[in-house]
Amino acid sequence: MSTYRIAVLPGDGIGQEVVAEAVRVLRAVGKAAGASFEFEEALVGGGAIDATGQPLPAPTLALCRSSHAILFGSVGGPKWDHLPQEQRAERGLLALRKELDLYANLRPATCFPMLVDASPLKRSVVEGTDIMVIRELTGGLYFGEPRGRAPLAGGGERGVNTMVYTTPEIERVARVGFEVARKRKKRLTSVDKANVLTVSQLWREVVTKIGKEYPDVTLDHVLVDNCAMALVQKPTQFDTIVTENTFGDILSDEAAILAGSMGMLPSASLGVAGAGGVPVGLYEPVHGTAPDIAGKGIANPIAAILSAAMLLRYSLSMGREADRVEAAVRRVLEQGHRTRDIAAAGERIVGTKDMGELIVRDVERG
Ligand code: IPM
Ligand code: MG
Repeated sequence: MSTYRIAVLPGDGIGQEVVAEAVRVLRAVGKAAGASFEFEEALVGGGAIDATGQPLPAPTLALCRSSHAILFGSVGGPKWDHLPQEQRAERGLLALRKELDLYANLRPATCFPMLVDASPLKRSVVEGTDIMVIRELTGGLYFGEPRGRAPLAGGGERGVNTMVYTTPEIERVARVGFEVARKRKKRLTSVDKANVLTVSQLWREVVTKIGKEYPDVTLDHVLVDNCAMALVQKPTQFDTIVTENTFGDILSDEAAILAGSMGMLPSASLGVAGAGGVPVGLYEPVHGTAPDIAGKGIANPIAAILSAAMLLRYSLSMGREADRVEAAVRRVLEQGHRTRDIAAAGERIVGTKDMGELIVRDVERG
């Protein structure tokens, strides 16, 4: 029986509630598959700041490094918003991405047929949406130097961040884009702002060059402002999107609306392949800590549960078990169970734990 060590970092707010359900689903699927999962929980984000003064304590990082995969919730909240940039709760996540070199962030935005009416957009627009956004995760504005604030002679300050990419950074994420597109509809859209930004001109050239290695994949380039519009105008024209860090952050939130709710969107952040060719992976729902509903037991755990499915697929090579979890989510939705965020008027609403339980029971039935 194979044993896998999974680092569990629920973080803050609803992260705690939704990750607990994802762990239950993993336990159920592990049992059914005859695999044993060892879950070890660690502090990150605001909770870690309160307990240790650090958003990413050294023991947490060490645990992540020695695990097969990381299941992450969300970090941040009003309690820590006043802290300086480098000490904020979000730093816990950003430092983890950087330390583990998790450069490729896969964010699928799928419109489930039974949730078409959960989106505020028209049925005719969202129906059939199935997009994979690949967001570069360790470069660009988020980490570029110089960065910081400095006083101005005449009063006031100067704030600066730098959007910077090197050829190798673009090459490696472009390859992920082409590889993923190859397994989907073989269409890759690279998103940039090459009509204005020098860094985007380099991005476009490098992606085009890598494209020559993938003659079977159709590549096109779209400017980010135009992409933002096209995503809500005709999302079905997109298959796989690859883009830099900040553009990907913004576009993936926008794409969440196509899936009905942020509560439905999972993600996988993959790094450089370690021994055995399996990439280190961190799996987290795209949504944040949702302080307004935290602790109420009403958050949608599906994004976290679908993130656990991605963990099975990408870090543990358990594709069949991943399919099983995704099928369970679909069936439970087909049966009409809804958390508040995806419920249409008149639909019966279940809480976080009930939704988790329904999916666990379906997984157990196989
Ligand atoms: C995301 C989040 C993070 C980001 C925050 C919490 C730092 O918005 O994962 O999209 O900006 O990357
Ligand atoms: Mg974001």
